[in-house]
Amino acid sequence: MSFQAESVIKKALRSKAERQMFEARYQRYAPDLLASIESVYGHQALRLMQELLPLMLDFYKERSEDLRQLDLERMLRPDWFQEENMLAYVCYTERFADDLQGIHQKLDYLSELGVTYLHLMPLLQPRPAPNDGGYAVQDYLQVREDLGTTEDMEQLATALRKRKISLCMDLVLNHVAQEHQWAEKARQGSERHKEYFHTYLDRTLPDQYERTLQEVFPDFAPGNFTWNETLNRWVWTTFNSWQWDLNWSNSEVFLEFVKIILYWANKGVDVFRLDAIAFIWKRMGTDCQNLPEVHDITQALRAVVRIVAPAVLFKAEAIVAPDKLIHYLGRGQHYGKVSDLAYHNSLMVQIWSSLASRNAFLLQKALQNFPEKPTSASWATYIRCHDDIGWAISDEDAAQAGLHGESHRRFLSDFYSGNFSGSHARGLVFQENKRTGDRRISGSLSSLNGLEIALEQGDLHLQHLSIERSLLAYALVLGYGGIPLLYMGDELALPNDYSFTENPEHAMDNRWVHRPRMDWNLAEKRHDPGTSYGQMFLGLKHLIETRKMLPQLHAAQPAWVLNSEIPAVLVLERPHPMGHMIQFYNFSEHHMQYPIHVLWERGYTQPLDHISGTHLDLHLGYIPLAPYSRLWVTNQG
Ligand code: GLC
Repeated sequence: MSFQAESVIKKALRSKAERQMFEARYQRYAPDLLASIESVYGHQALRLMQELLPLMLDFYKERSEDLRQLDLERMLRPDWFQEENMLAYVCYTERFADDLQGIHQKLDYLSELGVTYLHLMPLLQPRPAPNDGGYAVQDYLQVREDLGTTEDMEQLATALRKRKISLCMDLVLNHVAQEHQWAEKARQGSERHKEYFHTYLDRTLPDQYERTLQEVFPDFAPGNFTWNETLNRWVWTTFNSWQWDLNWSNSEVFLEFVKIILYWANKGVDVFRLDAIAFIWKRMGTDCQNLPEVHDITQALRAVVRIVAPAVLFKAEAIVAPDKLIHYLGRGQHYGKVSDLAYHNSLMVQIWSSLASRNAFLLQKALQNFPEKPTSASWATYIRCHDDIGWAISDEDAAQAGLHGESHRRFLSDFYSGNFSGSHARGLVFQENKRTGDRRISGSLSSLNGLEIALEQGDLHLQHLSIERSLLAYALVLGYGGIPLLYMGDELALPNDYSFTENPEHAMDNRWVHRPRMDWNLAEKRHDPGTSYGQMFLGLKHLIETRKMLPQLHAAQPAWVLNSEIPAVLVLERPHPMGHMIQFYNFSEHHMQYPIHVLWERGYTQPLDHISGTHLDLHLGYIPLAPYSRLWVTNQG
């Protein structure tokens, strides 16, 4: 630590214990911070370090006793978020419980499910609709006024903390609403604020950039730049025309976000979901996604947070290819220094692919080819979320599985939009890209898995199969390793909600088909095993409870993907010093017989499947796998 830093800290912190704690953390993380800001902001790095220190000290001093206690607990238990009891619930506050105060009444429901992490989707004040479901933020320091106040947020965070539930908040890093004061000021002529954005006098540079850029919303927001009359300039707008991309090469933007993050960390936010993080750095000639500076910036932000509020985590929302995705959990110089969590988009896509094709071979190959993650980081595993499903299946993985990438992706779009003969799915095509042929899919878990059609047909067998598919998917999400994200409504097999077409604010964006309101009448009846929603709820709850008892499911333990002897079956091994676990997932509606030697070879003498609670008969010669069954087997010998 430089003498200067030491004296600044000494002056700011009177109590010796407080000072020792801060100094220890500063010594630990300042090198990470300096290295990363040096690589992004070059010669400005030292000045930035000098500006950051008093800022960090201010927030450190303000941090409440409660939160400091939490910091300590989590420093002593750095794997707290990897434990096998972790379970996230993801919802829109207003669709789940009206507003922040309303959430208090729903805490028993969440506890019944075993939730330990609550992601309330966009909580900050957005521009008036349309606002991309809240992802166009107008004021980062204000809670959405229809949801409550900052005090409500703090109270909720405290109530959640008492129940050992972490609170996750979205932090949109790539863009702000055009109504945000930074954009307002830029339009009013502030040169300083113009530098917060990427703006261009004419089309020369935008046209050059466009050559290598993709389109996120080719349908309702084509292109990546928008002309602004007042500014008399083109503005970089990757998403919608009213979402202005921020210029992170300006260190002022970095400092603004440091303040925003620490502000909410001190209000009790435990996890920041770094929305659209892949896009924050731009470089000509590239697709302007996943550039190395993105990881430097994350490392810098994380180092700051580790110094001031080490209880807090980052979750990267980068829906990108596997070789790019792994960098969000840290590769090379960033190993273990960036986000603690990242969405496992590939696992999600591959599960859908296997359910459609009744074949897990591609899933197996894709996971086997997947780069290993740092043991200190964790995946966020999921099957549904509020966004659409894009068929991120690489041509290479497809080829290894004997498939043609493009044809398979076309098949999946056809299958899940119900345009494939024999498909059980009912989904909608989202953002058809005429140029690339991509068709992403919207739809709820249960409608995509056949429940909607089965209910219409009054076919009990098909209803059963659809619930089994959804439970199979969730079993893998729970068994793979990571924080499983339970998307609101999935636990009750809520179907597509077509009413979005009646709401002019949503009608254009069919992702709203899988963003229903919570059906509390149905939830009342959740324990009725005679209904499909009861079967889903009870089946899921059972999986969650079983998972909590199994140390093999800790996220630091790897998931080894074995070469399966049956294409419809995925076989995973979760090694653990207390005895390995083998998992089987049957992706077809047929009975399968898996060769028993997989257990013999591993020395299993008394194999127990924890999900069904039954012992497997080694003398049978095979492991019987019912349609869509899932087994988590350890040796009880
Ligand atoms: C993230 C959100 C998505 C939103 C986009 C732009 O991907 O999940 O809903 O449209 O960011 O903010």
